[in-house]
Amino acid sequence: MKRIAREVAGEEFARKVWKRMEFIGDIVLIKAPYGDEVDYKLYRRIAERILEELSYVKSVWLAASPVMGEYRIRRDLVHLAGEPRTETLYKEHGCVFKVDIAKIFITPRLSFEHLRIAKLVKPGEVVVNMFAGAGLFSIIIAKHARPRKVYSIDINSYAYKFMKENIEMNKVEDIVVPMLGDAAEIIKEKLVSVADRVLMPLPELAIEYLPYAVMSIKEKGRIHVYLHINWVKGEDYLEKAEEEVSAALSRIPSVKSFRIIGSRRVRPIGPRYEQVVVDVEVERNEQKG
Ligand SMILES: C[S@@+](CC[C@H](N)C(=O)[O-])C[C@H]1O[C@@H](n2cnc3c(N)ncnc32)[C@H](O)[C@@H]1O
Repeated sequence: MKRIAREVAGEEFARKVWKRMEFIGDIVLIKAPYGDEVDYKLYRRIAERILEELSYVKSVWLAASPVMGEYRIRRDLVHLAGEPRTETLYKEHGCVFKVDIAKIFITPRLSFEHLRIAKLVKPGEVVVNMFAGAGLFSIIIAKHARPRKVYSIDINSYAYKFMKENIEMNKVEDIVVPMLGDAAEIIKEKLVSVADRVLMPLPELAIEYLPYAVMSIKEKGRIHVYLHINWVKGEDYLEKAEEEVSAALSRIPSVKSFRIIGSRRVRPIGPRYEQVVVDVEVERNEQKG
């Protein structure tokens, strides 16, 4: 990809852009560097070369702005070349997912994290995935570990629709339970004190929704909190993330004690801006209902 970008647009442009290309099934998504003026003709030439050279690629799209809004989707997609189609089959860790790059959140950059979490799940665990998208964490956990149940929540009706299809396609209907709605409401109504492990893969809501993750665990459980951390020179962004989670947990009255197990960078988001996950074990006071 870097070679194609270099040959079409020169070294400097290639250096900026090639890491911003994502393969999602047979679609290539190029994320334009934000803030730069977009030279559509240049991107179209790159897209055509990609189609010529990589026969498995059928469609190339440009994302002119980052994921946005409650559903974390791309509103500014521009078709560059190939089939004008946004739906595809995306494979990860032996599972297959029907996704639509225009309607739901999807990125291959969470691939390592999906499997890392699946490997932590012990046989018989009940997992709550509060922000499941098309079900990637949930289905990969069901396939690679032996959980009893994975409750898989999303508020976007398209994500829910794809999640349901993906659960069937991967034959995990007896383990993964798709749920449509707001994670806080669903937990309050249906998932109090059920989980050994809770996933919160939505940095924008993680701190605000932490009380509901706590509500969802049994007396003791593990929570994976995903955050976006801005940092300045001299700061340790992992330490900063751990402090943020510790401070938030300390404010929740039902938390009896907690222990930070660890933290890691999931992916860079921008200059001095990281997505980080903090893994924490929480013990809860008894709760009614
Ligand atoms: C970053 S995406 C999740 C990515 C997904 N876990 C994956 O691995 O591909 C966040 C998801 O949270 C959903 N969401 C946003 N607000 C929500 C809420 N209040 N309750 C449940 N889901 C929500 C969005 O629709 C989106 O699909």
